[in-house]
Amino acid sequence: MDTFAAIAARRTIRDFTEQEISAEILDKLFTAGLQAPTNNHMREWEFILLQDREKRHQLLDMVIHPLDEKGALQVIDQWGLKNEDQRNMYLKGIPRQYSMLAQAACLILPCFRQDSPLLHPQTLSDLNPFASIWLCIENILIAAADQGILGVVRIPMEDEIRILKQQLHIPTNYEIPCFLALGYPTENAHRAKQIEINTIDKIHYDKW
Ligand SMILES: Cc1cc2nc3c(=O)[nH]c(=O)nc-3n(C[C@H](O)[C@H](O)[C@H](O)COP(=O)(O)O)c2cc1C
Repeated sequence: MDTFAAIAARRTIRDFTEQEISAEILDKLFTAGLQAPTNNHMREWEFILLQDREKRHQLLDMVIHPLDEKGALQVIDQWGLKNEDQRNMYLKGIPRQYSMLAQAACLILPCFRQDSPLLHPQTLSDLNPFASIWLCIENILIAAADQGILGVVRIPMEDEIRILKQQLHIPTNYEIPCFLALGYPTENAHRAKQIEINTIDKIHYDKW
């Protein structure tokens, strides 16, 4: 696949087959991730692979309390969302927050070194490690798409982060940007309808 095709193939899916990802492919994906640009040249990124299914379920039981469609609708209305495509994305996505992480062939917790308080940055540069790890994650997602593997990220809530750090012995100066779930999509895996965007409308010449 060429780069542009892999970028286009990368879509969020939340329904995975049982097919495992081979160790060889996983190694390729992490290698691609570790080639992302990094603010301080150090690539202070670590990855926890939640491989043991039973332990993974136990952990997810502690941190994620999924909503059904009715609960999802209430949240979507509370947020005041009006765009139909966006509402549908959340309507499909919210009820799958547990199952997508439980089913995925591979559940990864990327971690990045963050020596200053992440949620109290003083300057934009304080957020450089956070920005860098997302480049790493995107590299993994595109490399995965190249191999026919898709996935989803979930941003853990404050309480989830506390439990994850405690349960998985994550050092205090490391942060978790997201859960990264990867696997092979089921035949009917839902892909949210994209909001239509014209590239040309997004570009401003010389001034906004
Ligand atoms: C920063 C970020 C946070 C996201 N958080 C979640 C999440 O918590 N749960 C989830 O199911 N999807 C999450 N997503 C996936 C988005 O819903 C998805 O990327 C978006 O709908 C666009 O669809 P696409 O990835 O297929 O292009 C997140 C994506 C990003 C980039």
